[in-house]
Amino acid sequence: MPRVRCGIAVRGALGEGILTAGFHRVAGTLHCDGVPLDALAAQVGTPSYVYSAPCIREQYTLLAQAFAGTPHRLHYSVKANSNLAILALLQQMGAGVDIVSGGELFRALRAGYTGSGIVFSGVGKTEVEIEEALAADVLLINIESEEELRLVNDVAGRMQRRARIALRVNPEVTVDTPHPYTRTGEKGMKFGIPHDEAVRVASVALGLKNLALAGLDMHVGSQISLFGPYEMGLQRLLALLEQMRAAGATEIRYVDIGGGLAVTYDTERPIDVAQLGSKVSAMLSGSGLQLIVEPGRFIVGNAGVLLTRVLYRKRSGGKEYVITDAGMNDLLRPSHYNAYHRIEPVKAVEGRIVADVVGPVCESGDFFALNREIGDVSAGDILAVHSAGAYGFVMASQYNSRPKAAEVMVDGERYGVVTDREGYDDLVKGERVEPRWTSL
Ligand code: LLP
Repeated sequence: MPRVRCGIAVRGALGEGILTAGFHRVAGTLHCDGVPLDALAAQVGTPSYVYSAPCIREQYTLLAQAFAGTPHRLHYSVKANSNLAILALLQQMGAGVDIVSGGELFRALRAGYTGSGIVFSGVGKTEVEIEEALAADVLLINIESEEELRLVNDVAGRMQRRARIALRVNPEVTVDTPHPYTRTGEKGMKFGIPHDEAVRVASVALGLKNLALAGLDMHVGSQISLFGPYEMGLQRLLALLEQMRAAGATEIRYVDIGGGLAVTYDTERPIDVAQLGSKVSAMLSGSGLQLIVEPGRFIVGNAGVLLTRVLYRKRSGGKEYVITDAGMNDLLRPSHYNAYHRIEPVKAVEGRIVADVVGPVCESGDFFALNREIGDVSAGDILAVHSAGAYGFVMASQYNSRPKAAEVMVDGERYGVVTDREGYDDLVKGERVEPRWTSL
């Protein structure tokens, strides 16, 4: 079924009319914007990730409009897709970023962000990462424990700085996500400061002279389609804010509701961001607070596909197999979360089959789909694995000594490789046959 993901029209680069942005069929061939994906696969090889820049822009704009009713900042969650070209594209749109490591800080700075556009989350920041964040003068460090709070104070003192911090509170709300691994805001989880300790930790923060307690933060989970957890969580944060203000916190001006906004992989409902935006705006109206939102998947999830070539067909135990040149090392989500990704041949084929679509990795868990009805494809055909823009390439590994795929950005009728395909030399980078022996 042809399906337009973004459904926006862009002026063709060659001026010959209007193109559709995103993934759609033209004369039986799947395109990304104005680029036919069979021809692209022939040029850049497979497996390759392909991203539509107009789709990313559209999703960003949707969010910016949704939250227009309240002073807000959109901090793209780099972990969803940390490609420099995507970071730079969003920076040009006015986004900030949410980072969770020194490596993501490095990427953000490389892509053109400055400290004032960066918030630093994460449950296990190292001392070096804290130093790097303070040196970059990030907008906020989101603190997840009292020990971390004290360490940030020490490091800031040593660097003669006053660190702006937010307390990431576990709002302890019930969330329903497709997989337990993507829930973060329930009681007892490793993330955030437990709800009933938040006010006490705020008082500790107020007593530490190298800290400015500037915000409250939460993240309830990922792939959330309902408003409930956000509303409930934000209510809890605002109630804590009152108590913290009563305890002397006068500098809190940011409230961060995290990321997690759902997209459609199969038939699920994406979150209605316009409604979420108006609900949140109403809750913050007159508060003088700046809202921060940290979306990842919502911005890039449906802006990307993974292109893979069919290597073989085979039957085993009465079952059909389609064996592809991409594997779980390239796209881990089906194997790791049992996640659904729509799969279709780039060139329309006659007939349908029910098959397991599997990769070449030596694990029975290496699959993209099980018992899936798809086109009756043959060796050499190119498949598009949809909704691969978020948590795709970033979760890839070289397992089975498989060089990582290429990444390509498409914008209208142009495409550009934004990550080169790895070669065998990349597999052994930093390794040596002979250890550099030393004694302690
Ligand atoms: N903020 C924080 C503190 C987070 O931990 C996350 C995601 C986000 C924002 C962005 O969430 P998003 O808007 O993308 O849902 N690998 C999993 C998802 C893990 C999400 C981890 N945290 C997957 O493939 O579904």
